[in-house]
Amino acid sequence: MVGNRNFSRPSWQLPESCATPEEVFFNRRQFVKLLGGTGIGAGLSGFGGIDFAEASEDPSAGLYPVSRNEAYTIERDITPEELSTTYNNFFEFGSHKQISSAAQALKIRPWEIAIDGMVDKPFVIGIDDLLKKMPLEERLYRHRCVERWSMTVPWSGFSLAKLVELAKPSSGVKYVRFETFQDSSVAGGQKQFWYPWPYIEGLTIEEATNELAFMVTGVYGKPLPKQMGAPLRLAVPWKYGFKSIKSIVKITFTQERPVSFWEELAANEYGFWANINPDVHHPRWRQDLEQPLGTNERIDTQIFNGYAEQVAHLYEGLKTEPLYR
Ligand code: MTE
Repeated sequence: MVGNRNFSRPSWQLPESCATPEEVFFNRRQFVKLLGGTGIGAGLSGFGGIDFAEASEDPSAGLYPVSRNEAYTIERDITPEELSTTYNNFFEFGSHKQISSAAQALKIRPWEIAIDGMVDKPFVIGIDDLLKKMPLEERLYRHRCVERWSMTVPWSGFSLAKLVELAKPSSGVKYVRFETFQDSSVAGGQKQFWYPWPYIEGLTIEEATNELAFMVTGVYGKPLPKQMGAPLRLAVPWKYGFKSIKSIVKITFTQERPVSFWEELAANEYGFWANINPDVHHPRWRQDLEQPLGTNERIDTQIFNGYAEQVAHLYEGLKTEPLYR
């Protein structure tokens, strides 16, 4: 199960993408219930003394809230902000869910994104310049981890297709490769040498230009908090959450299929496609049910996470590909 970049990982170090100890999950639910019962939770902006006020000092703060695109709504309750911003996977800051405090060490200005590979002319663009060029909107999306917890999140951002347009890829491009920052002086997790840093993800060009592929820059009507992948992350809601790479610094247009961070570590668990399917189980987690974060509900998983209408056609004819892993 060790990746092929010659990493020697201690045998006890299982790749725990999206692994949440049940008791952590349970305790959080109990805590939220308690807060709800006492009314203490009203207006709470983060647990554990974490100060997210910095988000309001983000130079992009004035851009939000943005208007909602009603084409992307969901008949489900939005996950409370205090839950989704304190229960995160961001292995750069720790291999557990409570990384929101550690993630505040990430400096998100200046922040540049390199666009390279098979494009008309490679370029580097600062996040604030990019934000000026892109049409921002809010979309309510499902967000589902392979570990079976799910959220409903009001992301703000822009369609990835718009960014592809700006990049002007050449006609032979087959894939888009995304790369996260690498700086172990702020992200302690990157000192764990057995992980193949930096975090990499990839999409086919058809997936990247599908209407659902969304570049996220904000959430809950505010700039994206660091623990959720500020200042720029991906959201591809028909795929498991690990595909939604955070804090992106490079986007490369290529003919080669990118090998993702998790695929490199455990290809039998985390493949390139990772489309959500109730009938194809992860070796450690059944996928027929999902549990919305902060509830005791169990909901039937839908093929492509309920987005078949928008994405099923992308996979017609790809009969030999393991589309659900
Ligand atoms: N991106 C980076 N750079 N590093 C990560 O560890 N974790 C992934 C994905 N993107 C991860 C990442 C996983 S496993 C999930 S489920 C989602 O981010 C979690 O997003 P959230 O914390 O906003 O819910």
